[in-house]
Amino acid sequence: MLETASALISPSLPTVWPRFEQPLRLGVMASGNGSNLEAIAHSIERGELHAQIGVVVYNNPGAGVVERAARLGLPAVLLNHRHYPSREALDHDIVQTLLAHNVDWVIMAGWMRCVTAVLIDAFANQVLNIHPSLLPSFPGLRAVEQALAAAVKVAGCTVHQVELAVDSGPVIMQAAVPVEPTDTPATLQARIQVQEHRIYPAAIALAAASHLSA
Ligand code: GAR
Repeated sequence: MLETASALISPSLPTVWPRFEQPLRLGVMASGNGSNLEAIAHSIERGELHAQIGVVVYNNPGAGVVERAARLGLPAVLLNHRHYPSREALDHDIVQTLLAHNVDWVIMAGWMRCVTAVLIDAFANQVLNIHPSLLPSFPGLRAVEQALAAAVKVAGCTVHQVELAVDSGPVIMQAAVPVEPTDTPATLQARIQVQEHRIYPAAIALAAASHLSA
């Protein structure tokens, strides 16, 4: 039986991480578990990603990200989409919250809502998302299940700049993992998440470095 590496293609991390005049001010948006938030926070603690997390915005009361934010000592603000008449109204309050915490980079880390021009225009080219597929394959919900249903042999994750269409926008970084014949959504998701946690901090640094030098 052929041995497969757990990651087929995963970009190497910077040996020297970029430093900025001021640490990047990140606002992290999350709906669920928050493992990407934690990976980003740990990268900052290790002195890699030169950033501070100004605020965590979440939309689901009781989401795992709340406990993680508390453990990491990060302020977390609940903006429950169920209480808003429109996506724009929610995004308006998200923008106000991010600005109140002096955020300049918006990091969607498992944010499971479509965002509108209200958010995207307020942080032009500075809204990033991570998605558990090799975009443009399998955008939208249940990307890992979509990959298994399509019987692809390679899956992965993508960090991209956010544009209006769901899971679209310039790709910043991707990592590919093998799909094993015995994979379930949970096992494949776990393999992909190892790579998400590696590449997201590096992709933020890369996006900010190229944005600032543009
Ligand atoms: C991640 O796998 C991320 O790629 C996915 O949600 C998960 C959040 O995990 N995002 C999307 O599907 C967005 N379309 P986390 O809450 O443990 O960071």
